[in-house]
Amino acid sequence: MEQKTDLSEAEIAVHWQEEGYYQPSTSFIAQANLTDPDIFKRFSVDNFPECFKEFADLLTWFKYWEKTLDTSNAPFWRWFVGGRINASYNCVDRHLEKYRNKAAIHFVPELEHEPVQHVTYQELYVRVNEMAALLRNLCGLKTGDRVTLHMPMVPELPITMLACARIGVIHSQVFSGFSGKACADRIVDSGSRVLITMDGYYRSGTMQDQKEKADIAVKDAAAEGYKVDTVLIWQRYPGKYSSPQKLVEGRDVIVNDALKHYRGARIEPEHMPAEAPLFLMYTSGTTGKPKGCQHSTGGYLAYVTWTSKNIQDIHPEDVYWCMADIGWITGHSYIVYGPLALGASSVIYEGVPTYPDPGRPWRIAEELGVNIFHTSPTAIRALRRAGPDEPQKYNFRFKHMTTVGEPVEPEVWRWYYEHVGKGAAVIVDTWWQTENGGFLCSTIPALNPMKPGSAGPALPGIYPVIYDDDGNEIPRGANRAGNICIRNPWPGIFQTVWGDPDRFVRQYYERYNKKKGSTDWRDWPYFAGDGAMQPPDGYYRILGRIDDVINVAGHRLGTKEIESAALTVPEVVEAAVVPVPDEVKGRVPDLYVALKHGIKASRELEEKIAKAVITEISPIARPRKVWIVPDMPKTRSGKIMRRVLAAVSSGKDAGDVSTLANPEVVAELRKLAEQTKV
Ligand code: WT7
Repeated sequence: MEQKTDLSEAEIAVHWQEEGYYQPSTSFIAQANLTDPDIFKRFSVDNFPECFKEFADLLTWFKYWEKTLDTSNAPFWRWFVGGRINASYNCVDRHLEKYRNKAAIHFVPELEHEPVQHVTYQELYVRVNEMAALLRNLCGLKTGDRVTLHMPMVPELPITMLACARIGVIHSQVFSGFSGKACADRIVDSGSRVLITMDGYYRSGTMQDQKEKADIAVKDAAAEGYKVDTVLIWQRYPGKYSSPQKLVEGRDVIVNDALKHYRGARIEPEHMPAEAPLFLMYTSGTTGKPKGCQHSTGGYLAYVTWTSKNIQDIHPEDVYWCMADIGWITGHSYIVYGPLALGASSVIYEGVPTYPDPGRPWRIAEELGVNIFHTSPTAIRALRRAGPDEPQKYNFRFKHMTTVGEPVEPEVWRWYYEHVGKGAAVIVDTWWQTENGGFLCSTIPALNPMKPGSAGPALPGIYPVIYDDDGNEIPRGANRAGNICIRNPWPGIFQTVWGDPDRFVRQYYERYNKKKGSTDWRDWPYFAGDGAMQPPDGYYRILGRIDDVINVAGHRLGTKEIESAALTVPEVVEAAVVPVPDEVKGRVPDLYVALKHGIKASRELEEKIAKAVITEISPIARPRKVWIVPDMPKTRSGKIMRRVLAAVSSGKDAGDVSTLANPEVVAELRKLAEQTKV
C-alpha cells in the first residue's frame, strides 16, 4: 500500500503509557443531568433505533413523527419520519414563557474596554424575526434555498442562522478567516445567490476588512460562471460602516439600514419536515474539493440537544462558554443549536484567546460567571505556554470542561485539569467529526471516570467497531490500531454530501459495506477515516486521520487543497504537503515544491508560494516552511513518497527507501535540512 501521512499522527498516541483514572467530584455528580447507571442498557443494540425517542422528546414538534428510522434507501438514513419541526422555534420561541428575560447570548467584543452585550431570549426572538422578514421580503428567499454566510464571531451570526432556519432556508456559514476565494468555491458549490457578511471585526486588536473578501468572493464566483445577486452586510458598529471598500450599487445592502423597514415584523416559523436540511458545513476530505456536509433538522437538533444536556451537562441556569468558532461544526452544534435549544446562556467571544494577554479567557470567565468551558487542545497548549499561572489569578470556578478536535497529550490534559479546572471540574474528551453532527465518544461526566488522552467509551446508542484493512474486527484489548467505524446510524449523522451523493456513499460507506443495495443498517458501517485502538477498559484512543488530511489546530485541511494552491504559482511544477508536529497546533503543514526547469530557488519565491496558500485557502493553512527541492522522492510508479518528506521535516530517519526510484534524493534533502535548520 502507498505510504500514509498518518505515521507521525499515530506516533503521539502509540507512545503514550496507559494513564490512571480521575473521578468526578461528588458535588458535580449531585447536580448532574445524567446519573442513571442503566443508561447503556436502555441504549443497548436490542433497543435500537427506538431508544433515540428519548433524544427527539427533548424537542417541541409541530407534528409528532411516525417512524424512528427509515432505512429503505440505505445509507441515506431518514430519522423521525413524518415529523414537522422548526429549529428556530426550538431555540428561541419555546423559551419565551419561562426565560424571556434571561440572557441567550453574552457577546464579548475583543477590545476589552467595549462592554459585554447581553442578548435576552426576547431580544433574540425580535431580532431573528426581523431578519427572517428581511431575508424573505427583501431577498425573496424561500424554503430550500441556500445562503452563504461569511461572518465573524458576533451575535448577528446566530441571529442570521436562526432567521434562515425560521423560513426553511439552508445556511452555509464559511469560517470568517477563510479567504474570499475559499468563500467563492463554497458559494458556487452550494448554489447561493445571497452572501451575508459583516463589514469588519476585531482580531488581535486590529479591525479586519471582511467586506473586501466578499468583493473577491463575488468576483471569483463570477469567474466560475456563477452570479451572486445580493450581498448583505452587517455593521460591526450599528450605524457606522467600518470597511474602506465601496458599496456596489444594486448588489450590496447594509443590513442594519434595511432592517428598519422590518421593525416589529413577526414571521411564523415554517413547519419543516424532520429530514429537511438545516445547514451545510464544508470540510476537507480525501479528494481535493471540500465537501458540503448536509445536516438535517430533526435528527441533528435532537442529537445536539441531548448531548449538550447529558455530555456537556448544560442546565438552563448555566453560563456556558465554548471558545470555538461558529464557522466550524463545533460552534454550530455546541455554541448555537445545542445550548440554545436547552435555554442556556451561551458566550460568544469575538477574538483571540490570548489577546491582549493570556489572562483574557479567565477574566471573561470571572466576569460572566462561566461554569462550563469548552475548547480544543490547541487553545489549551497556547494558553499554557503563554501563561501557565494565569488561571489561578482569577476567581472563576468551572464545574465542567470539554476538549475536542485532536488527541490531547496527557501532560496538557493535566494542566487543564489542575490549573484551569482547579482540580474540581470534570473533563470530557469528545471525539467526533464535521460529518457526525455531535459527539460520538466521550465519558459521561457523572458516570465514567476520566482518563487523560482517551476519548472514552462510545455514547449511548453508538456502537463503534475497529476494523483492520481486510475488514476483520480488531477486538478490545488487542493492542492493535485499526480503522474506527460506527456500526449503526444515529440521528446526528449527516444526510449526504451536497450535490454529490455518490461521493457520500463512496467515501463513508463503501469501504466496509457488507452487501450492496442492502436496506439493513447492519450492512453499512460508517467509515470515519480515523485510526483508533481500544484498550481493555474500552476507552477509545483516537490516533488521528488515516487519509490525506492534516489536522491543524483541530481543523481538517486537505493536503491536496494546499498542494493545488501552491501549483497556482506558475514557477511550481510539483507540490507535496506533509504534517509536522507542532507544540501548540498539534500539526502544521510543511510544503515541498519542485520548480520548472531553469528557475532558481529564492527566498522571494518561497514567500510567493506561502502567500498563494494564504490567499487560496486561509492563514490557518500557512506552511511552516516552503522547501524548494531539486526533485521529489518517488516510487517507481511515480508517486511522491510523503513518508520520506515527513521524516526529513521532523528530523527523523527516513526508514526503508529501497522502493524509491531515486533514493539519492534523500541525501540531498537531508543536506538541505541541515543548511536551513528548521
Ligand atoms: C477529526 C474531525 C468535530 C470536532 C472538531 C473537528 C479529530 C476530533 C478528537 C478527539 C482525537 C479528535 C479526528 C477527527 N478529532 N476530536 N477528541 N480526540 N482526535 O472536526 O474538522 O471534522 O475533524 O478531528 O481525527 O476525524 P473536523
